[in-house]
Amino acid sequence: MVTRVKPYAESAASYIPERPTLEKVRAASKGCKACWLWTLGTQTVFGEGPRQADVMFIGEQPGDQEDKAGRPFVGPAGKLLDRALDEAGIDRTTVYVTNAVKHFKWERTGRSTRRIHKKPNDAEIRACRPWLDAEIALVRPRVIVTLGATASQALLGKQFRVTKDRGKAIASPLAEAIFATVHPSAVLRAPDPAARGLAEKELVADLTQVARHLQAQARQSAPRGARGIATRTERRATKKTAGDRSGSREQPMAARSRRSG
Ligand code: URA
Repeated sequence: MVTRVKPYAESAASYIPERPTLEKVRAASKGCKACWLWTLGTQTVFGEGPRQADVMFIGEQPGDQEDKAGRPFVGPAGKLLDRALDEAGIDRTTVYVTNAVKHFKWERTGRSTRRIHKKPNDAEIRACRPWLDAEIALVRPRVIVTLGATASQALLGKQFRVTKDRGKAIASPLAEAIFATVHPSAVLRAPDPAARGLAEKELVADLTQVARHLQAQARQSAPRGARGIATRTERRATKKTAGDRSGSREQPMAARSRRSG
């Protein structure tokens, strides 16, 4: 009888270290061969950001530039995300960014030397899921924001439609709320400048809902005077009235009531 050996582990579960910490998990992810995508990508692109970030953004998979840099959202989509976060009053340095799939899946078409992004399939998303689950369990974000259909459906189910339920707080056992919005790459792919402008505005509007949610929750649980994420308008107002209080430091993120228990 021939014993068939599976070419890949098919799940990253066996790679997750015992007594995991974010650093241990990140290090372990470097050697992941849970699916065949490790043969395509330059390296594993694990998430990054503060270990106790209030918000976790989840994209689909690293792109060409992320694959080379080994860091998520550093290419054109990342730049757009940075801008949209700034517009919504969310400080990018305070959020954790990661992807549903940690290797770049790509193909070449014709004679082009360009590596063209290819959508990961269900088996690849499933194989990679233990890394994402570990990140969520260790960071324990108050809010998760899924960018695009791949991440949204991975967390909210195959039936979920970003177009229908974007920008709303969705109940989940994974966090206080999940917000789904479009992927910044979809904004970049808009057919003309007017459509792109509109798509970017809508992305900012969704992220503003995230900022508002965090603020509202922070107001409920934080002592008077503690600050959550400020919307752009509020930051402007704060600057105007700050006067000679310029030495005082604002709390950039909301109080961590979820973690205090
Ligand atoms: N697109 C993603 O989904 N993730 C990245 O890190 C970059 C582009």
